[in-house]
Amino acid sequence: MAMVSMRQLLDEAAAGGYGVGAFNVNNMEQIQAIMEAARATSSPVIIQASRGAREYSNDRFLYHLMLAATELYPEIPVALHQDHGNSPATCFSAIDLGFTSVMMDGSLLEDHKTPSDFEYNVGVTREVVERAHAVGVTVEGELGTLGGLEDGVGSGEIHLTDPDQAVEFVERTGVDALAVAIGTSHGAYKFTRKPDREVLAMNVIEEIHQKLPDTHLVMHGSSSVPKHLVDIINEYGGAIKPTWGVPVEEIQLGIKHGVRKINVDTDSRLAMTGAIRKAMAEKPEEFDPRYYLKPARAAMQKVIEERMNGFGQAGHAGDYEPRSLDEMRDFYAAAVH
Ligand code: G3H
Ligand code: 13P
Ligand code: ZN
Repeated sequence: MAMVSMRQLLDEAAAGGYGVGAFNVNNMEQIQAIMEAARATSSPVIIQASRGAREYSNDRFLYHLMLAATELYPEIPVALHQDHGNSPATCFSAIDLGFTSVMMDGSLLEDHKTPSDFEYNVGVTREVVERAHAVGVTVEGELGTLGGLEDGVGSGEIHLTDPDQAVEFVERTGVDALAVAIGTSHGAYKFTRKPDREVLAMNVIEEIHQKLPDTHLVMHGSSSVPKHLVDIINEYGGAIKPTWGVPVEEIQLGIKHGVRKINVDTDSRLAMTGAIRKAMAEKPEEFDPRYYLKPARAAMQKVIEERMNGFGQAGHAGDYEPRSLDEMRDFYAAAVH
C-alpha cells in the first residue's frame, strides 16, 4: 500500500468515531515499533517527523525507511506527516520529499519560540494550504500556543484556543485539521498533579467541535507519561522528577468531541530509554547495540499498542481503500474553500 492521505485517515476516523495516534520517529527502530504495533492491532496510523527528526536522520533516510514500511506492511494505511513545520519553506520541502501531510505551525514565528499574531498565522497557513491541496497533501494548522519548554518547542506561555477565532481561522485558511491549545505541553513535565479541568481545558475542545463539527481536531502534547515507565528509568539510574501527563480517559473524551489526531512522542521516548537503561544495567559486559535496541523497540511497540487500543483505531486498518494523492487533489479542487 502506498502512503495515504492524512485527510482520508482522519475522515475515516470521524466516520468511525475513533482517534488516530500520530507517533514521532527519528530512526529505523521507531518506525519498526510503530508498524509492528499497527500490524498487531490492525490499525491505520500516522507517522510524523519533526524538523529535528529530519535533521537528525537526514530526511531521505527517513523517507526511504517509510517506503520500506509501506512495502513490508501493505495492509496498514499510513500517512507520513511533517510535525510542527515552522515556515512554508519547511512544509514545501516535506511535500517535495513525498510526505502526504504537513503541519504549518503558524502559532509561533519562524524561530518557533515567539508567539505570532492571528493575521501572520492565517497568511502562512493559507499559503501552505494552497500549495499542498494542489498536490493532494493534507494540512494541519495550529491556533493558540502550547505551554512548556522542556523540548525546546513552544513559547512557554499558554494561550488557549479561542473558539470563535478558530472558526474564522478554518474558514480563511481551509485547513483539514486544527491543533488546539487546551493546556498541554510537549515533553515529560506537563502537570505537577493529576490534571483536572483547571489545568486541562477539555471544555475548549467541546466548544470548538460544536462550532466546527467538520474540522478534525488535533491534540498535541498528548503523552500520558505513565508512572511505570518513569519508574523503570529511575530504577536504573535515571533522574526523572515526579510528573503527570494526559490521562488516556481525557483523550477518549476529546475523541467523543472531534479529536481525530493525537500526538505522542514522549511516551515512546520513555519506553525506549527505560528498556535501554535496564538492558545495560543488567549485562554491563554487552556492547552489541542490538542487545539494548531490541528491548527498546519492543517496549515502544507495547506502549503504542496500548495507545492504539485506547484511541480506538485498532481494528480499522482494513476498513477502506486508500485514495491516491491525485484523487485527493481532485477532491480538493472540487471543494470550495
Ligand atoms: O514537537 C515535539 C515532538 O516531541 C518532537 O520533538 O523537536 O525534539 O524532535 P523534537
Ligand atoms: P508529547 O511530548 O506529549 O509526546 O507530545 C508530542 C507532540 O505533540 C508532537 O507534536
Ligand atoms: Zn506538538
